[in-house]
Amino acid sequence: HESIKVALLGAGTVGSQTARLLVEQADEFERRIGARLELTGIAVLDPDQVNDPWIDKSLLTTDTLELTTRADVVVELIGGIEPARTFVLSALNHGASVVTANKALLAQHGPELYEAAERNGVDIYFEAAVGGAIPIVRPLRESMVGDKINRIMGIVNGTTNYILDEMTTRGLAFDTVLKEAQAKGFAEADPTADIGGFDAAAKAAIMSVLAFHRDVRMDDVHVEGIENITESDIEAARAMNRVIKLLAVVSENEQGISAGVYPIMLPADHQLAKVSGSFNAVFVEGEASDDLMFYGRGAGGAPTASAVTGDIVTVARHRVAGSTGPSIPLYSNAPIVDASQA
Ligand code: HSE
Repeated sequence: HESIKVALLGAGTVGSQTARLLVEQADEFERRIGARLELTGIAVLDPDQVNDPWIDKSLLTTDTLELTTRADVVVELIGGIEPARTFVLSALNHGASVVTANKALLAQHGPELYEAAERNGVDIYFEAAVGGAIPIVRPLRESMVGDKINRIMGIVNGTTNYILDEMTTRGLAFDTVLKEAQAKGFAEADPTADIGGFDAAAKAAIMSVLAFHRDVRMDDVHVEGIENITESDIEAARAMNRVIKLLAVVSENEQGISAGVYPIMLPADHQLAKVSGSFNAVFVEGEASDDLMFYGRGAGGAPTASAVTGDIVTVARHRVAGSTGPSIPLYSNAPIVDASQA
């Protein structure tokens, strides 16, 4: 089989680690795919800022749109809605499969992009958009498609979990810990998305679509962040043997579908109360499967890149086989109910 051309958009925290894995694991991936992955370009805003030793500088380009027109697989790791949306649509319309970690984009425009992929007979894979290294998208999209999902509840933002955990265990101030989270590469470029709960809300919307086959978007998710949690709130929780965690909760019952993100006081011995640092954990309650728990590193360059390369290898395998992964059918008309009282 001839080589599969891979275009990388973005060389930030995740993009840089993805490039490293693609270079270091090239032979291994070739054996797993049955074709060689050929990195054809890396689109960045400023090539002079890229200094990773594993990145061949001759691959760097600033003409992102052009790069999307000559690849078999386009890997979007620039984040944000525009111009990411334009680049992803261009890739799909040019017959490339897309791998993205862009939760904000999928939470606002996922259903159109899933439809565009299906129309063009290509894949869109996004394991890294929820829970970093943790396989949770594939289980919801594929493994659990034979079950009815009643509820998903989890810690899906590493930055806020890290902040709350460090404030609780080390008694540090909010701003000090936020700076640490940024330095460690967990936080978004604009950490308001983390702190305000919007990053977790985007993941809640993405999981709702997969679990309930319903068009659920960012605007449908009730959002509360941790910006108002003080050291004295944490102390008060501790006095009651409780821990404050930012949870995303999505569920479906007779009333309809609800999706929300809020800080919740959990008993200290609750499984989610023990999730420390930047780790994420997601509980899925299936009708037949009963409770499942997914746990691991939810943020950071290398862990997130592991999910991205998993998707790259997967969509490349599909191309070798002349197939695609499953579509994402949206057929439910269940009402979306207000999650603010949950
Ligand atoms: N800023 C996100 C987090 C990165 O802290 O979880 C992973 O999506």
